[in-house]
Amino acid sequence: MSELNALEQEITVGINAAADEAALEDVRVSALGKKGKISELMKTLGKMSPEERKEMGPALNGLKARVGDAIAERKEVLKEQALNARLVSETVDVTLPTRVGATFDGCVHPVAQVTDELTAIFADMGFAVAEGPDIETDFYNFTALNFPPDHPARLEHDTFFLPEKEDGSQMVLRTHTSPVQIRTMIDQEPPIRVICPGRTYRCDSDQTHTPMFHQVEGLVIEEGAHLGHLKWVLAEFFKAFFELDDVKMRFRASHFPFTEPSMEVDIGCERKGNEIRIGEGDDWLEVLGCGMVHPNVLRNCNLDPDKYTGFAWGMGIDRIAMLKYGMPDLRAFFNGDKRWLDHYGFRPLDIPGLVGGLSS
Ligand code: DAH
Repeated sequence: MSELNALEQEITVGINAAADEAALEDVRVSALGKKGKISELMKTLGKMSPEERKEMGPALNGLKARVGDAIAERKEVLKEQALNARLVSETVDVTLPTRVGATFDGCVHPVAQVTDELTAIFADMGFAVAEGPDIETDFYNFTALNFPPDHPARLEHDTFFLPEKEDGSQMVLRTHTSPVQIRTMIDQEPPIRVICPGRTYRCDSDQTHTPMFHQVEGLVIEEGAHLGHLKWVLAEFFKAFFELDDVKMRFRASHFPFTEPSMEVDIGCERKGNEIRIGEGDDWLEVLGCGMVHPNVLRNCNLDPDKYTGFAWGMGIDRIAMLKYGMPDLRAFFNGDKRWLDHYGFRPLDIPGLVGGLSS
């Protein structure tokens, strides 16, 4: 019996001394493996007298069970120690820049990037994003925006008309994002502050025009809104968007059926050959149309023009993207040439924000 006690003692010392799972496995094999010390002793039971076996059988079985339990217990401890050691040594530095390589094989299109940039800027000024359908009714695209029936502007827009319906009406591919103004005013109570970015369509194609392009509409409706507010919003936008301390603006009288007064806005620039530098020089570049929302438009949306005033603007997203990032040909935006996108695209994890930077 004392032999068994000595053996248990020896194995227990081995178990406790095992520094890792491999060492513990060695102890297990030497004790309980096929040729292990306890297994060898078990084999001797068959040759014993019944009396001896009666005493040694339970003693050996007890020893085997205790050693087995002790090994299992030690194994759990060692496993946890190993995991903790890995957690300490294998830290990940999340501040490292993302790796450029095989895993980085896609990029963000400049239109998506610029849409994210302007959304971040206007969101900071309290604007929400509103959306509408690309296929519009004549009512939202023209009538509610105060285009008189048979007004030439309906044709000036180079409108894509869908086939006539049975009732004689025709849907259109929206020619501008202004119909989203109408949908918003009909759906929401003032005060309203929204921007409406999206696709627009006109039958036109050259270096600066494509049949599908992008606009962003802005709309503010509230009691007391005036031109000064409009001017401030646009000035803040251009400074933030072009990442400049100051951007010169010029307002020119213009005409849109849905605003009164109506203006076109130019920003200051300098042209050198094919290059345009924003914010410098004595040249001007037209960037958007804007004005105070026409009382008829407010009435068409069941708003009382004696109570509410508002202003709106519409701007080409592709156009300001071309200006900011120096891309000369609009058609290249939509050709799907991967070499162009690899050159002008943005990295997917560099999400534009006012804190981290818009285009860094
Ligand atoms: N919808 C006009 C266009 O596509 C742009 C525009 C001008 C929008 C003036 C406006 C505005 O909201 O007030 O040419």
